[in-house]
Amino acid sequence: MAFQRLKRQLSYARISNDLVEYFQTHFVMEEGLMVTHKYPETAAHKAEHANFVSRVLAFKSRFEAGSVTQSIAILTYLKDWLINHIGATDKALVSHIKSQ
Ligand SMILES: [Fe+2]
Repeated sequence: MAFQRLKRQLSYARISNDLVEYFQTHFVMEEGLMVTHKYPETAAHKAEHANFVSRVLAFKSRFEAGSVTQSIAILTYLKDWLINHIGATDKALVSHIKSQ
C-alpha cells in the first residue's frame, strides 16, 4: 500500500515537473512574441501565465505533502484554465500579431 502511494506520488511528481517545464517553455516563447510584436496586453497575459504556474506548483506541494483529495479540483482547474486561456487570452495575442 505504501509502495503504491509512493509510486503514485513519484509518477505524479514527474508528470507535474514535466507539465510545469512544458508550460514554462511555452510561456517563454509566447512572452517573447509579445515583446517582438509590442503586445499591449503583455503584463496581464504574463500574469495569467505566472498565476497558472504558481497554482500548479502549489497543488504539487500539497500533493507531495499527502493530500490527494484535490486531484479532481486541480484537473478541473487545468482544463478550465487551458480552455479559457487558449480560447481568449492566447487568441487575442494571435489576433494582435496577425493584425500587424
Ligand atoms: Fe498565453
